[in-house]
Amino acid sequence: MSSIVIAGAQWGDEGKGKIVDVLMREAEVVARYQGGHNAGHTVVIEGKQYILHLVPSGILHEGTLSVIGNGTVVEPSALIKELDELAVQGIVVNGDNLLLSKSAHLIMPYHIAIESATEKKLGKAKIGTTGRGIGPAYVDKALRIGLKVGDLLYPDLFRTKLESSLAYSNDILEKICGMECFEAQAVYDQYMEYAERLKPYIGDASIAVNQALDEGKNVLFEGAQGTLLDIDHGTYPFVTSSSSIAGGVCTGLGVGPTRVGKVLGIVKAYTTRVGSGPFPTELIDDIGKRMQERGGEFGATTGRPRRCGWIDAVALRHAMRINGMGAIALTKIDVLSGLDELKICTAYEFRGEKITDFPSSAAELEECTPIYGTVVPGWLESTKGATSMEAMPGAARDYIAAVEDAIGVPIEIISTGPGREELIILKDQF
Ligand code: GDP
Ligand code: IMO
Ligand code: MG
Repeated sequence: MSSIVIAGAQWGDEGKGKIVDVLMREAEVVARYQGGHNAGHTVVIEGKQYILHLVPSGILHEGTLSVIGNGTVVEPSALIKELDELAVQGIVVNGDNLLLSKSAHLIMPYHIAIESATEKKLGKAKIGTTGRGIGPAYVDKALRIGLKVGDLLYPDLFRTKLESSLAYSNDILEKICGMECFEAQAVYDQYMEYAERLKPYIGDASIAVNQALDEGKNVLFEGAQGTLLDIDHGTYPFVTSSSSIAGGVCTGLGVGPTRVGKVLGIVKAYTTRVGSGPFPTELIDDIGKRMQERGGEFGATTGRPRRCGWIDAVALRHAMRINGMGAIALTKIDVLSGLDELKICTAYEFRGEKITDFPSSAAELEECTPIYGTVVPGWLESTKGATSMEAMPGAARDYIAAVEDAIGVPIEIISTGPGREELIILKDQF
């Protein structure tokens, strides 16, 4: 039995999808444990691009099982659209290779309306969410008025739960947001249609994943978002509403901590962030622009430009500790060719003092300025597609060693391009 958590160590979009796809060559099960279709995970196979939102990136491997766990939030029409798009791309998805937890919560149309009203009300302080209804769906879950995927199988129960949940949400919409109410009948009819489509996939995810582990199968746990977007350990309030860290696997899939093996942290060779919130190493200059252009740093879900900056070892050490990350996959190193020098943030200056621990509050982080304790020369050569360390320029190797040194965790995989084969594996994972 072997399991690996693939979790983002920064603000998402580290290249988790690509690494999951690569490691799926040796795994039989892949499971998402949190988040929803706010995620956008890109996999490139023989030049063809696939963007997965809620379906695990491992679905592209025939003969494997993809699981959407209870900790996720599911917008049925978005999931159906994703399944339809996969079918058009020739990926067969059926009840044999996709399992949707009956305990996952549903995103309802009023969640999306409430989110949009909340963001509007926040004005300048808005989170910059993906607008997918993620936050309000988790709110209803915590309020204990949420509807679950499994409720779709019991129309009468669904109707009763919908009516009481909607009564509350309609009050918020009408009285607080000044928006139009939703009509229970219309929502019910629509969701009963979705139920017909999704029925073949609905089941018990915890039983399936634990059974796979019992049978000695290799399992990947695919995180969405990243550590700094985690509801507890991220830069709150500029975070998502779920536990995106490795610990989320246990609650989000019904898998005990003793069954979670290795945690592989996915780290981009620089830093990006979509949406609002503090970002100490952000570069609002030509270098940041260059990273954005060369790295194609535009959101896979919303198309928004991603803010770019130097790699931040203070934030990364925090991520390593919070997740228990024992190894790193360093991605997008190829994007950094052609720079004069590269900087690594090793500490912050906060109110005149040097600090090396990541602040627990976003307000404090906002006041932090980066201290670039390591500056290394750049390289001109392209590293795109390199498959061995020998093929990398000396300066790139030095940068990788300096990053490893600053974070204090071994780099075991280096990604050198979006394609499946554009990869240096320094250590086998399973
Ligand atoms: P995820 O959300 O963590 O799965 O990451 P995204 O898919 O949102 O963003 C990563 C982007 O970088 C995608 O467009 C990938 O195809 C691409 N990518 C992944 N690894 C590499 C790499 O090593 N080099 C380059 N140039 N692109 C990469
Ligand atoms: P993947 O899995 C990057 C960000 C949004 C916003 C904040 C809250 O592709 O790495 P939400 O809609 O979740 O309530 O938005 O989180 N965000 C992401 N940023 N990658 C993601 O997913 C993200 N999912 C959410 O931009 O700042
Ligand atoms: Mg993404």
